[in-house]
Amino acid sequence: MTSTLHIGIIMDGNGRWAERRSHPRTAGHRAGVRAVRRIVESAPSLGVRSLTVYAFSADNWRRPEMEVRALLRLLRTYLIYETDRLIQQGVRIQFMGRRDRLSETLVEAMETAELRTRSGECLTLRIALDYSSREALVDAAKSMAEAGRFDRQFMAEALGTEDIDLVIRTAGEQRLSDFFLWECAYAEFVFTERLWPDFSTQDMKAAIEVYSRRTRKFGGLPAMAS
Ligand code: IPE
Ligand code: IPE
Ligand code: MG
Repeated sequence: MTSTLHIGIIMDGNGRWAERRSHPRTAGHRAGVRAVRRIVESAPSLGVRSLTVYAFSADNWRRPEMEVRALLRLLRTYLIYETDRLIQQGVRIQFMGRRDRLSETLVEAMETAELRTRSGECLTLRIALDYSSREALVDAAKSMAEAGRFDRQFMAEALGTEDIDLVIRTAGEQRLSDFFLWECAYAEFVFTERLWPDFSTQDMKAAIEVYSRRTRKFGGLPAMAS
């Protein structure tokens, strides 16, 4: 099977997962990392070519400093301990978002992970970190102005991403929260009540099944059965 599917995941509900257990919110984020590990591992066998996960939005800086710090520390630990496994699995990591507001040690871990996984060919794992789609669009518009090129293709190149086929958002929320607005122009959406730390391979399979039953028309008419 040739994998072509590009899935975006808005991982939501870590806090609620922890609160329901009377645990601190950071315990929810830790459980969320375990879910990422599960989903990354099973993605290639489900026909997924790339996975874009929303790890930390530019607006998440509004959260209490302690939570932000714990989250970013967790991300760094994930990278340090997970890179060898990701290399074995043929996963290539790419980060989207600002880097100038992150600590030097985190940026170092990000760059090392990107460099060490660069030849991974089974799955591209895009991690959106300190990411805002509106900001990414403004930056892309600046490159367009500098180059004097104003067309869709150049915009897509400046953004450095690809179209997203399916967006999955967990925890019952049904909004984009500034997630890849350009890339989601024709995306299908699957919303689930499942909280992110509980999201399983089976849930991922089910979402892909729902997606495969949808008719994508891109403004045209449904493809005629031949
Ligand atoms: C998603 O879980 C993780 C991040 C936004 C970093 P939340 O932390 O938003 O969980 P809820 O929405 O409070 O349950
Ligand atoms: C979106 O989730 C950001 C991430 C998943 C990292 P939030 O929980 O921050 O989004 P809102 O505030 O509910 O829209
Ligand atoms: Mg949330």
